[in-house]
Amino acid sequence: MGFRQDHLLGIEPLAPDEIQEILDLADDYVALSRSDDKHSDALAGLTQINMFFENSTRTQASFELAGKRLGADVMNMSLAASSIKKGETLIDTAMTLNAMRPDLLVVRHPHSGAVDLLAQKVNCAVLNAGDGQHEHPTQALLDALTIRRKKGRLHRLSIAICGDIAHSRVARSNLILLGKMENRIRLVGPPTLIPAGMADLGCEVYEDMAEGLRDVDVVMMLRLQKERMDGGFIPSEREYYHLYGLDAEKLAHAKEDAIVMHPGPMNRGVEIDGALADDINRSVIQEQVEMGVSVRMAAMDLLARNLKRRRQAA
Ligand code: NCD
Repeated sequence: MGFRQDHLLGIEPLAPDEIQEILDLADDYVALSRSDDKHSDALAGLTQINMFFENSTRTQASFELAGKRLGADVMNMSLAASSIKKGETLIDTAMTLNAMRPDLLVVRHPHSGAVDLLAQKVNCAVLNAGDGQHEHPTQALLDALTIRRKKGRLHRLSIAICGDIAHSRVARSNLILLGKMENRIRLVGPPTLIPAGMADLGCEVYEDMAEGLRDVDVVMMLRLQKERMDGGFIPSEREYYHLYGLDAEKLAHAKEDAIVMHPGPMNRGVEIDGALADDINRSVIQEQVEMGVSVRMAAMDLLARNLKRRRQAA
């Protein structure tokens, strides 16, 4: 049937075959990105604007490189430093940029739902680069690609997502994606950081790391999102590290060949031991970053094809 989306606002609207299609194309782009000539002309002639209303290092760099490797004209806007400060609304900013005729808009925003709203107002393809605590679809897709390449499949795996689930759009998008692909998902963390009702969604919830990590294939750690906390979610960082920080001892409960993931940026010594994060025999954190560029190339390529088709039909 093929990839049918006009935008990439979340994992929620994607069917499993569409997820597979993005990952298959991303595999091709990994090969291209590892060659000496990293260029394709899939987005040649198109304009990509990256609008980041919230700080970002790797996601913005990754989207920028992805667009450039595919031949798009890429512009970065860090909107903390723009007319937002002068009181302009999100929609006014979007309409102004829309008038410059972009083809792809990549948007990160601190409010859940802001990117969906924006997508209704513009006539180009919109990609959500993270909206509040809602979704971060390209992160879940790059995590899926990393898992699929390391484990040889993306179904019937046992995957533990650990730490600050409550504030994490990465956890949300991953839960949806890994659930659609029929994996067993465990959420591990203190009750204050796991939203109520998660067990009803078909995941197992654990308060204890040793139990939660027992025999899993994948351990996905999350950053403690201090900027989204407005009170005492954890007693202290030392205590948190003691109970929930991933180190070699806790990892020993997982399968012998379990991989360790983290979306970055990491708080070393808070949610993960620095030496373990750097251990190339267990940690796939650098691979995640590499896969990020290729997944974004694939997503933008597929969206651009649909955009051109729509415009031709109009
Ligand atoms: C994540 C994000 O921004 O949601 N980071 C990222 O995109 N690489 C996770 C985080 O900030 O902890």
